Amino acid sequence: MAGLVSNNAKPLWLLAELTYACPLQCPYCSNPLDFAKTKNELNTEEWLKVFREARAMGATQLGFSGGEPLVRQDLEILIREARAMGYYTNLITSGVGMDAERVKAFKDAGLDHIQVSFQASSEELNDFIAGTDAFQHKLDMAREVKKNGYPMVLCFVLHRQNIEQIEQVIQLAVELQADYVELATTQYYGWAWVNRDYLLPTLAQLQTAEAIAHEYQAKLKGKMKLYYVVPDYYEKRPKACMNGWGAVFLTITPDGLALPCHAARQLPNMTFPNVRDHSVDWIWRESPAFNWFRGDEWMKEPCRSCPEKTKDFGGCRCQAYLFTGDPTNTDPVCSLSPEHEKIMQVINSREQINSNAAPLVFRNPKNSKEFIKAS
Ligand code: FES
Repeated sequence: MAGLVSNNAKPLWLLAELTYACPLQCPYCSNPLDFAKTKNELNTEEWLKVFREARAMGATQLGFSGGEPLVRQDLEILIREARAMGYYTNLITSGVGMDAERVKAFKDAGLDHIQVSFQASSEELNDFIAGTDAFQHKLDMAREVKKNGYPMVLCFVLHRQNIEQIEQVIQLAVELQADYVELATTQYYGWAWVNRDYLLPTLAQLQTAEAIAHEYQAKLKGKMKLYYVVPDYYEKRPKACMNGWGAVFLTITPDGLALPCHAARQLPNMTFPNVRDHSVDWIWRESPAFNWFRGDEWMKEPCRSCPEKTKDFGGCRCQAYLFTGDPTNTDPVCSLSPEHEKIMQVINSREQINSNAAPLVFRNPKNSKEFIKAS
């Protein structure tokens, strides 16, 4: 088991999904399809208990996300308390629900870092994808973030509809004086899985975008950090998803489920523990769910005898499930997977499809209720 995730791993990165509520309706949202079913959010005290327990185990990074974390009126309290516990605190937000006063209040509470997401570099496309008028407000909030002296990350989720704006996207980030820019390729889970036909870029789009990203990485060296990652569907080897199951990341959902990754809730025949019933220590070290895909005993061939298993851990469990129906299979992104053909079929069919032909399903409570009815 040398090199594979061990049970001595610590939950260094704690992601607190404070709520699934969000004023935006992005069709690539990674929240569950039936998020409207999720009631009974953790209250302030319950969140603080989680933060304390995870910190005692060595957690250092804390991300406040959602949904839209700004919906939570106790966000300032959570930031202040988490900072006092010694966390490096990150707010991951669309900016909708923020104003100048709140940006300052977060600063006073000790928030370290803000990531603002944009849907595109143009108002028209941004607001179409967001499902609401948000672009101008995002610009104002990004300027406010800089004015308050935060290190600012801008995140653009790239897909077939906006990837050709990549140069304008980078120029917008330069204009807004971003410190880091994530040109994040859509991850095909949740709503993005439903809308994959509409969102997956073609190979030609990717190659052009990659060349532009590399050109700007060189030009902006020392001034702005630009991260660009191609979608793993186009890779030959799978990503080391979450750096290994139960290795570094701990996600807590709005209703208190503890997950090794944000998409794990969909996996079949697995019961995830709830922080209302168990300590973080027990969840991380003892719970069957967090131990399920640690080590290599769960692996099938070709992963089990593959020398790369110590690097990629067999890839993504959620992707293996979505494509093959069995999360213990090799991630089909791997060209050694017996089911790699399924990825190739998706890529090939996307090359031919007219992107306007696929209907786009926006994430909103009405869609979510329909998914509940259908399931
Ligand atoms: Fe769940 Fe990769 S997203 S293991």
